[in-house]
Amino acid sequence: MEEKKIMLSGIQPSGDLHLGNYLGAIKNWADRAQEFDCYYFMADLHTITVRQNPADLRRRSMQQLAAYIACGLDPEKNTLFLQSMVPQHAQLSWVLSCYTQFGELSRMTQFKDKSAKHKDNINAGLFTYPVLMAADILLYQPHYVPVGADQKQHVELTRDIAQRFNSIYGDVFRVPEPYIPKAGARIYGLTTPGDKMSKSIPEGCVFLMDDPAVIARKFKRAVTDSDRENCVRYDPENKPGVANLMNIYASVTGKTFEEIEKEFEGQGYGVFKPAVGEAVIETLRPIREETDRLIKDKAYLESVYKEGAARASYIASKTLRKVYKKVGFVQI
Ligand code: TYM
Repeated sequence: MEEKKIMLSGIQPSGDLHLGNYLGAIKNWADRAQEFDCYYFMADLHTITVRQNPADLRRRSMQQLAAYIACGLDPEKNTLFLQSMVPQHAQLSWVLSCYTQFGELSRMTQFKDKSAKHKDNINAGLFTYPVLMAADILLYQPHYVPVGADQKQHVELTRDIAQRFNSIYGDVFRVPEPYIPKAGARIYGLTTPGDKMSKSIPEGCVFLMDDPAVIARKFKRAVTDSDRENCVRYDPENKPGVANLMNIYASVTGKTFEEIEKEFEGQGYGVFKPAVGEAVIETLRPIREETDRLIKDKAYLESVYKEGAARASYIASKTLRKVYKKVGFVQI
């Protein structure tokens, strides 16, 4: 039998999961869960590059695990784990940092954005964050890394680091491909169609656990365009707000932009916006209900992350051992 290809990805539990995380990443993971051997984790080590409240971080990590399962990631078939429980991530990260250039890290957009936002805390972790992400990935030798468009640069750096290491030591790492969805790769804020949807602008951000009434209200208030054309047409340059809503609608219904234009022909935004809201509410409803149910089952979640960490650690230790040997560390 042919071996399954490997997929791996993670999300930082630095905020509650939102529609951007779902459409840009998790939905794509769950859709492929049968086909691939999958590793999905809570990137908790990454979150402390920005100050966190410890109790909130713990709560969100567990809620995120429950949400992964509720979104369709079966822990029997996928390895679900917390990054901080698998020490090989930090260990490989150190080695890879010695094969990554200062200049490369200085060019990372996310570093530039975050250091502009957190001027009082531009710590070394914020700078070396992409190296940890490279370690997260390369430990599991994945073929694909399913992420939203904003993470593509980090996956490309991972490829460069892997190729550099391989060119010195032989084929140690598989060089992975980013796997970016056609629809949903970049979801913008509902009130700020120029910025990606993120927890930092909560009015325009739809959280997975939001109440249906709250979601409906957020979509009703979504920014459309200023040309008063009042016509549902895909034109991201001139009508970014409408294009974003169409993109969301396309992702949750599987319809094409032409089908959507036809569906709302002759109808204005007053009909279109609530329809998108309704489609999102119905997509998220079962996820919210199942997350709510799972979050109460602490013993079950504990068994999932313990088993996940053991499996992840087993695989990760094989790659780490190879790396240690190649660079010349004495083997136990
Ligand atoms: P993070 O936690 O910011 O986001 C998690 C995933 O959600 C996607 N995403 C979006 N997609 C579409 N539209 C949006 N508005 C939107 N916002 C977020 C992101 O592209 C990502 O796929 N560094 C990573 C976490 C990470 C990781 C990894 C990912 C750590 N190690 C190893 C893959 C592999 C991050 O900060 O993503």
